[in-house]
Amino acid sequence: RRLLGTAGAAGAAGLVVGGGAGAAVAAAVRDDPAPLTGVGAAHVPFEGVHQAGIVDPAQARGHLAAFDLAPGADRRAAAALLRRWSDAVREMTRAGRPATPAAYDDQVADDAGPSSLTVTFGFGRSFFTRTGLTAQLPEALAPLPDFTADRLDPKRSNGDLWVQIGADDALVAFHALRVLQKAAVGTASVRWQMNGFNRTPGATDRPRTVRNLMGQIDGTNNPKPTDADFERRVFVPADGSPAWMAGGSYAVFRRIRMLLDSWDHLSVAAQERVIGRRKSDGAPLSGGTETTPVRLDAFGKDGAALIAPDAHVRVAAPASNGGAAMLRRAFSFHDGIGSDGTPDAGLLFVAWQADPMRGFVPVQRKLDGGDGLSRFLRHEASGLFAVPGGPGPGEYVGQRLLE
Ligand code: HEM
Repeated sequence: RRLLGTAGAAGAAGLVVGGGAGAAVAAAVRDDPAPLTGVGAAHVPFEGVHQAGIVDPAQARGHLAAFDLAPGADRRAAAALLRRWSDAVREMTRAGRPATPAAYDDQVADDAGPSSLTVTFGFGRSFFTRTGLTAQLPEALAPLPDFTADRLDPKRSNGDLWVQIGADDALVAFHALRVLQKAAVGTASVRWQMNGFNRTPGATDRPRTVRNLMGQIDGTNNPKPTDADFERRVFVPADGSPAWMAGGSYAVFRRIRMLLDSWDHLSVAAQERVIGRRKSDGAPLSGGTETTPVRLDAFGKDGAALIAPDAHVRVAAPASNGGAAMLRRAFSFHDGIGSDGTPDAGLLFVAWQADPMRGFVPVQRKLDGGDGLSRFLRHEASGLFAVPGGPGPGEYVGQRLLE
């Protein structure tokens, strides 16, 4: 309550006496010791075995960005950039009252708590040639194969460095992106950048699996941290190769446009057959509730499979792909109405796995070959990034590669 009162006073002071006094009051607001509550107080540690922003729930706001190194920026310059970025993120994600290195601060996130901010860094294949680190290039960063549904825009794909930002407050997320961009000046510039969103915490009666822009409950059958094989599927093991990727993961990014006008012409029953799950509650068409395992071998009285042969959950299931699995952690996007009059909207799909050849690639190959959902999707941008393990105390992300 004290914080709100002070903020009101700051607004009034700004109106009456202008910037000088306004700035003084704003500084007082920043020093206010009143505890944060709710969404703002939630914090995800920056340091750890794995980087933040992979296992923790996707936040309400997201920004994805790729940066290219400036001509002449070498390994040493890249290391200095990762150091600046990591130091800034360590400050911005601190529990309690986060701070921002003064050199980059625009005060956009003042008054807010960390709001579950996470910033996750990755390296694209081109990073290794640019910095002369080809001996350290992971085999798993082999270029993704072409798929028939691809309509990829190279200008919005790939990149030397990749950043995934998530926060439950839009100002906190924007601020983090701005800080990273400022800290990169002279060393790297933005190649592409996209904005995404998810449901805001507290908007539903209880925490629920999120819905995507087709209205489906999306994420139910993701691998769970409690699964015995979760770590092995998602993260490179401690003795994995290359050694600098221990505790890391590979992120496949796809900007997937949803052809929503065509989709909305289908009846709900037809939409449910395309996925293999009920739209209302996400329960599989083979019966039960959202969390009931899907029975791919269940048949109706008419002898037809309850989960259609081309249903998305059948074609994508690990059982149909030699056990291939990935952790899907997406943001929706909506970039207005396209020139064709339909929403430029869909999914900023991010899939995490220990090896893309045992995760995204075989599954997408299968989906591309005849999944009912693919008729309503267009893959418009793509990237594959090596995301190293999390930083230890005082370390910067990627230090084991770059030092
Ligand atoms: C499951 C939607 C793209 C892989 C699902 C489910 C929905 C869905 C509603 C069922 C609920 C769940 O288990 O999460 C979509 C939409 C997509 C999309 C709207 C595009 C805009 C993809 C892509 C891949 C993929 C590109 C991988 C290449 C999977 C997997 C499952 C799944 C592995 C779980 C299957 C199972 O084990 O039951 N998806 N999906 N999806 N999807 Fe997608």
